[in-house]
Amino acid sequence: MSSQTAPAPTLSVRPMSERLGAEIRGIDLSAPPDAQAFAAILQTLHRYGVIFFRGQKLSPDQLAAFSRCFGELDIHHMTEHVFPHLPQVRVLSNVKKDGVSIGITKGGMHWHSDLSYKPQPALVTLLYAVECPPTGADTQFADMYAAFADLPEAERKKLQALHAVHDRNYRYSALYPGRPPLTPEQVAKVPPVEHPLVRVHPATGRPALFVAKDVVSHITGMTEGESRALIDKLEAFATRPDRVYSHKWQPGDLVVWDNRCTLHRATPYDPQYRRTLYRTQVRGETPVAMTS
Ligand code: SIN
Repeated sequence: MSSQTAPAPTLSVRPMSERLGAEIRGIDLSAPPDAQAFAAILQTLHRYGVIFFRGQKLSPDQLAAFSRCFGELDIHHMTEHVFPHLPQVRVLSNVKKDGVSIGITKGGMHWHSDLSYKPQPALVTLLYAVECPPTGADTQFADMYAAFADLPEAERKKLQALHAVHDRNYRYSALYPGRPPLTPEQVAKVPPVEHPLVRVHPATGRPALFVAKDVVSHITGMTEGESRALIDKLEAFATRPDRVYSHKWQPGDLVVWDNRCTLHRATPYDPQYRRTLYRTQVRGETPVAMTS
């Protein structure tokens, strides 16, 4: 062959709905994609908010290598259950070895956007299924672009001027009753932070609601009652079934989501089945408010 460039992989995109979630077929991610293939992947992520690839065979190092295409990887402030040589990759698992869990168990069962309680929340998260139950344990995603766009115009105008306080400690003990409360040192690492209630995605320019009832303690400048009523109403509106994609896992699935325009949550499953996933997170940016 005289051509000096490798042929472009024949990627195909299978949308899960008009607005949220798409499967990308025709690529093996065990080696990072070339620039052209990655541009197509990124474009699909920006279009659908959540993308997934089936049938991948990835070691933790290969997952980290592909994850780095999206940006610099974060090392989570909770440092347990990572690979010793690769702290950027965390293990989620209900499997026990010698009576000790090999990963984080029962995490993220409330709607959230990863690390929203930090000044620079996570950009993109990647989750790779090593083993999973035959049913249950879906990961659900809500479309926060649609949640904003579907509100009446007068309400959109009102919301875009507001700021919300995200607080890791706000409902931590209620969400994780099986875990010890955060230590004062852990709380000090993640003090409450104020973000715009509506953020603009820097790549697409589209506004998205940025709120989750178990992480946002209050809306700045509102009474406690008004604030709680608005937060609860917005999350319920955003997570209506017609704005949600539920990912049904198969071993070898890699799901990638954009935390700037989605919420997600884990769902229950029968604990007799093993569930192990590897996860990476790409470092984010300061959320930007809508200006008009
Ligand atoms: C999470 O990343 O919040 C958990 C997702 C899952 O375990 O399904």
